[in-house]
Amino acid sequence: MTDPKKSGSAASQAPAVAAQPGADQTPYITCSDVFKIYKVADLEVVALRGLDLTVGPGEIIAIVGASGSGKSTLLNILAGFDSPSAGTVRVGKFDLLNMTRSEVVDYRRREVGFIWQQTSRNLFPYLSALENVELPMVLSGSAPSARTARARELLDLVGLSHRIKHRPEILSGGEQQRVAIAVALANRPPLLLADEPTGELDDETGREVLELLNRVNQELKTTIVVVTHDPAIATSVERAIAIRDGKTSTEIRRMVSYARRIGGQSDRTREFQIVDASGRVQVPRQLIELAGLGDRVVVEAVDGNVILRPAED
Ligand SMILES: Nc1ncnc2c1ncn2[C@@H]1O[C@H](COP(=O)(O)OP(=O)(O)OP(=O)(O)O)[C@@H](O)[C@H]1O
Ligand SMILES: [Mg+2]
Repeated sequence: MTDPKKSGSAASQAPAVAAQPGADQTPYITCSDVFKIYKVADLEVVALRGLDLTVGPGEIIAIVGASGSGKSTLLNILAGFDSPSAGTVRVGKFDLLNMTRSEVVDYRRREVGFIWQQTSRNLFPYLSALENVELPMVLSGSAPSARTARARELLDLVGLSHRIKHRPEILSGGEQQRVAIAVALANRPPLLLADEPTGELDDETGREVLELLNRVNQELKTTIVVVTHDPAIATSVERAIAIRDGKTSTEIRRMVSYARRIGGQSDRTREFQIVDASGRVQVPRQLIELAGLGDRVVVEAVDGNVILRPAED
């Protein structure tokens, strides 16, 4: 196992290609060389192994990756539900590795809204949609009239003003996730985290929920991190980061084409490999096989390009 260690500055990990939203600003989320090791009996499971990630204020990104790659582990850390074993995690003014218990409670209540994949986990079954949205505001002590007005406004934003008296059991899965988004936004958190929010929905309903998250991001300027293993979602946001084996490996950017800027044609996407703070890049397995690279390579600079070729004995 690689030794957990301190890393370089967050700025040195920022992708060098194509400007991202907020690239010129201080990142809102900075994860540097994050490790998460779970101990199960005598076994160690390394869920995150040196993960680097920066997210700008007001950005919406998707985290994609195979089952077991560490997506939920990362989201749980960002939510303050779990703490990393090593590395740096900063969200706004919070240093997530150095918080007291009461700061963690405060962080979860004020800074973060969370949406789970399981629709039933997000809402209280015996409360109406309106009461569900009001509940976080009851807990944070806002006045009754203010919280009812805010809950109505949010249910309107998510397109459910005609369903405010309904309990979750008579709402569809997509409607329940819309209410869950309103609940998560109740206390005006600057950060919204969603772990596979469309996982239990059909494709069409899932797309609508994603559109809603994009709209919330645009209208409320909330920073949003959505976890998914649906590749279609990756292309519906500006930036998608792929996690492989507990490490950020690839970034997919939606490039707004010139044609679209002048009112035509749709966007295209481009995929980049991430260069981490230590200069490591993951080479996709199929390219390693295609070039017959084996487990040792010679790295050369040729005409301003970097070439990898198989090492000769
Ligand atoms: N509480 C835990 N105790 C032990 N191992 C865990 C725990 N939580 C996660 N893991 C392990 O850490 C690794 C990453 O799990 P994680 O749940 O983050 O993956 P994921 O990318 O969210 O997968 P999925 O797409 O299936 O939800 C897996 O090997 C998993 O078994
Ligand atoms: Mg998961």
